[in-house]
Order: sequence, then structure tokens, then C-alpha cells
Amino acid sequence: MTQEPDPRRKAGVIGWPVAHSLSPVIHRYWLRKYGIEGDYDLIPVSPEKAEGVIRNLTGLGYCGANVTIPHKLTALRVADRATDRARRIGAVNTLFYGDGLLIGDNSDAEGFLRNLTATGPGWSIEDGTAVVLGAGGASRAVIVALSDAGVRSIRLLNRTRERAEELQHLAPGITTVVDWEDRSSTLVGASLLVNATSLGMVGNPPLEIDLARLPTDAVVNDIVYRPLETSLLAAARSRGNRVVDGLGMLLYQACPGFRVWFGHEPEVTDELRQMVLEAAG
Ligand code: ATR
Repeated sequence: MTQEPDPRRKAGVIGWPVAHSLSPVIHRYWLRKYGIEGDYDLIPVSPEKAEGVIRNLTGLGYCGANVTIPHKLTALRVADRATDRARRIGAVNTLFYGDGLLIGDNSDAEGFLRNLTATGPGWSIEDGTAVVLGAGGASRAVIVALSDAGVRSIRLLNRTRERAEELQHLAPGITTVVDWEDRSSTLVGASLLVNATSLGMVGNPPLEIDLARLPTDAVVNDIVYRPLETSLLAAARSRGNRVVDGLGMLLYQACPGFRVWFGHEPEVTDELRQMVLEAAG
């Protein structure tokens, strides 16, 4: 007789389409590594069905879920309660139950910051100026993370300037919107450059930027991880800047979900990075 899986021990990722998601590779690696009996599924859900599935997660045998495109706003609306950081970022990517309520969280800011600080000692986010490119969902998480980490100032640039202006309130008093055309000249005195646009991703145009005015002790972080070494990171590396690729953010943002669903703080290891890279092709 086969046993029904314990619903407290099964999670998954809800998206449409979702087949490309690397989340199962990450969570199944940790489940195996820590000897936890559980599973992590791909959960393809069309937009018409998203609300119903999210409301009925336990009925479907899940103790929680990650949420990806295009359901992150639906998850924010449908959750009984949203964490402060999910509300600020304006999207939910992690669902779990607490006191019988469905809680919506967003782990992207934590993932971004942990990835950045994992690059090692020698620099600190505080007292520095960050230049952030982009004003989409990823950028919102980056700004929230930098603000919470105590960065001194943020220069925010986006092709569509109004979208950048709409994000200023996320880090009030420290965010200045700069014209997209000035992205090379605004690098003077920056301690961190973050590409949170989709430029440089496979299939998209490269990010055109001249790094000449960026201090050589600045850190350059590309959110894009396909390819792992974008032309931005290659250019930064060749002039001596410390570089941080985007894969780490993907791995670290998975940690809060695993912790709350499976009760174990997972580690981001080189072995995991390799597995995910191979799976990503
Ligand atoms: P995400 O939620 O992953 O951040 P998004 O909301 O689609 O994705 O945002 C993509 C970002 O890349 C935006 O900042 C977008 O700029 P616009 O707001 O002007 O659209 C930026 N981007 C995409 N293609 C671009 C291009 N060719 N040149 C400059 N910026 C681009």
C-alpha cells in the first residue's frame, strides 16, 4: 500500500509557464542533502485558475509554494496576510501557512543582499553610493534591500524615467532619479553598480555602458544569470572590479521558503551552484 505524501512536506512553484523553473533543482538538492522526506513540484497554473489554486494549496497537498510569473501580484492579493517586505516590493514569491493563515512573503531582497554580502569582506554596503539600473520587479527588491542595508544613497536609472520615479518612495530621501542617457557619467564615486534590467540576458540586447568612471574598488552585480558572465561583468572584471553574478540571488532567494516549509536552514554551496548551472544549460 502506498502512503499518501505528508502535505506538510510538499511544496512547489506556481507559474505559467513554469517548466523552465530551476526551483525544483534547488529544493530537491536540499531535500536530498539533509535527508528530509518531502518533495517539490512544478505546478503549472493558468491565470484563470491561479486564485483558486493559491486559496486551496493545502487541499492540493502543499504546505506552501513559490510563486513566479505571472502570478506574483495575484498571490499578494489572495494571501490572508502579506509580510512587510512583500507589501513594499509589491509582489509575493513565497507562500506558507502561519497560525492557519496563508502568508505571502517576498524573498528577493533577502536573496539579493545575501548574494552580495557572500562575496566576502573588504567592502560594506553602508556609507556607499549604489547605482541601480532598471525599474521592474527585480529593481524594487534591490532598492528595498539596499535601503534596509543602510546604503547612503541610490542613483536610480531606467529607460522609462517615470517608472524609476514611481520607485523613489521605496528608499525615501536617499534615492535620486538620473536620466538613462547619463548611465556612464553617473558612475563617478559609486561603490556598487547593479544591473536590474533584462539587458544582457540571452536573447536580449547587451547593456551598453562605459565603466571608465566607475571606481575600481566598486562592486558590480548583474541580476541576469543567463549567461552567467554577462558582457557587463566581463568588462568590470577586466578592469579590476569585484563582480557578483546573478545566480547567487536565485539560490539565496530560495532559502526562506525551504526554511519555513521543511524546517531546516539550507546552505548555498558550490555543488548546488554547479547543479543549477548544468540544469540551466
Ligand atoms: P523584472 O520584473 O524582471 O524586473 P520588467 O518589469 O519587465 O522585469 O523590467 C525589465 C527592466 O529592463 C525595465 O527596467 C526595463 O525598462 P523599461 O521600464 O523602460 O521598460 C528594462 N529594459 C528592458 N529592455 C530594455 C532596453 N532595450 N533598454 C533599456 N532598458 C530595458
